[in-house]
Amino acid sequence: RNEKTLAMIKPDGLFGNYTDRIKNVILESGFIIFKEKVVQLDEGSAASFYAEHSTRSFFSSLVKYMTSGPVLVMVLEKENAVADWRTLIGPTDARKAKISHPHSIRALCGLDSEKNCVHGSDSTQSAEREISFFFKEVSTGGVVTEH
Ligand code: CMP
Repeated sequence: RNEKTLAMIKPDGLFGNYTDRIKNVILESGFIIFKEKVVQLDEGSAASFYAEHSTRSFFSSLVKYMTSGPVLVMVLEKENAVADWRTLIGPTDARKAKISHPHSIRALCGLDSEKNCVHGSDSTQSAEREISFFFKEVSTGGVVTEH
């Protein structure tokens, strides 16, 4: 059954002109790019997107990085999209990715554990939250929680 995930090319990925190469990998790997848009995050939206990391020591640096330029957000669709996109991007720390996963996207364009060039939802629940964060109109077919 088809699944959707949220993929993001972070500011360093856009600045470094990696967009076309990353999209080629996405399409060659059998994903459909269902939606895409370029967004400039402000501090509030970056902090809210990464709210689960708000107590970590790297949080303020992460928010600064994520607001340093535009990002490209995409909804990718295919069977097993969440796990397969995570596999394609490789480990969080791009320095480790270059050694252990040399063909991963983070090995291609990431720098370190913060400036790692791309993001991918880590579960189907995160995918649902992150997709509706950027694309209110996309329904992932999950349960809607009412407040
Ligand atoms: P991402 O997969 O988008 O999810 C959380 C982000 O926080 C991560 O990529 C990095 O950009 C950043 N991050 C995670 N761990 C660290 C760390 N140890 N130091 C700095 N930034 C980090």
